[in-house]
Amino acid sequence: MRKDCLIGESDAFLSTLDHASQLATIDRPILILGERGTGKELIAQRLHFLSKRWDEPLVSLNCAALSSGTLDSELFGHDAGSFTGAKQRHQGRFERANGGSLFLDELGTAPLTVQEKLLRVIEYGEYERVGGSHTLKADVRLICATNQNPQDLVVEKKFRADLLDRLSFDVIHLPPLRYREQDVLLLAEHFAIKMCQEMNLRYFAGFSYYAQQQILDYDWPGNVRELRNCIERAVFKHNHEEAQIESIQLNPFLSPWEDSQLTSSPSAILNAQKREEQAISLPLNLKQFQIEQEKALLEQALLKSQHHQRKAAEELGITYHQFRGLLKKHQLLTTIKG
Ligand SMILES: Nc1ncnc2c1ncn2[C@@H]1O[C@H](COP(=O)(O)OP(=O)(O)OP(=O)(O)O)[C@@H](O)[C@H]1O
Ligand SMILES: [Mg+2]
Repeated sequence: MRKDCLIGESDAFLSTLDHASQLATIDRPILILGERGTGKELIAQRLHFLSKRWDEPLVSLNCAALSSGTLDSELFGHDAGSFTGAKQRHQGRFERANGGSLFLDELGTAPLTVQEKLLRVIEYGEYERVGGSHTLKADVRLICATNQNPQDLVVEKKFRADLLDRLSFDVIHLPPLRYREQDVLLLAEHFAIKMCQEMNLRYFAGFSYYAQQQILDYDWPGNVRELRNCIERAVFKHNHEEAQIESIQLNPFLSPWEDSQLTSSPSAILNAQKREEQAISLPLNLKQFQIEQEKALLEQALLKSQHHQRKAAEELGITYHQFRGLLKKHQLLTTIKG
């Protein structure tokens, strides 16, 4: 397992780190919650390496990657002949993690049958291999993570309430990157320097003011992972040690062709407007119509500016703060996708 360093100095991030450091020492199951790409795996590593089990194995398993039956035998192992194709005895992750920690990622996706077995291990410290007859002892500290809301999963009957109670001696909430404004440029520089090293560039000349504003204004729905990809891509394309990176391509999925159709051809815009005018028929609810128009224009401006909010505000002839206010009003702040 890789050991990356955790970068950040915002209050939100530092208090999460403190919380994790405190919990590391207590030998109880911990649940890590946070949106995708917020660093749950890195926090799981911290919990392990600051615990008294630090020199024992840290074994991880992504529950979403396996089907129900495979997950069962991956976790608990199986004996030879327990099912067709099981020629040899297979050590499960619990057995391999013995004495250390087991990190179960995306636990929210684990099927109920597996959850029931997990419950038993936590409750009695014992389990059997699939198809096995004798009982094994588990001396494992469980660290679990999910980007779903576990209480919603319980309501939807996809997650056992009793398992959730037992797994969450305490819960660590990772802040999304949009609540860590102070860390965004710090992380961006960190990833840029690492990428330069990987590409054997001697220096990283930095980001232009414009590029910095782009990085700061964007909401990073994919959090630190998205930032990392975006910065690595920018450094790779730039491939220069002396010139600054002038601008950043935030959304690699935006097709330049669709964009140009929208923005570069005035007749295309006129035609679209005409079509829209024709589509409006009375009677209508004027207030609702205005709200929808405003929202659509915000989205269009964001699309055109590649989610650069200052540029999007300019497109609409309003200030950045007015623009942010409108995003909030239409609840677009958290739903903007890159
Ligand atoms: N504070 C941080 N400092 C440096 N790198 C970080 C930090 N947080 C996350 N990263 C990097 O961001 C990427 C995503 O982190 P990680 O895999 O831990 O997120 P995750 O929450 O487990 O995501 P997912 O829900 O998609 O599994 C990794 O490349 C990781 O190294
Ligand atoms: Mg993860």
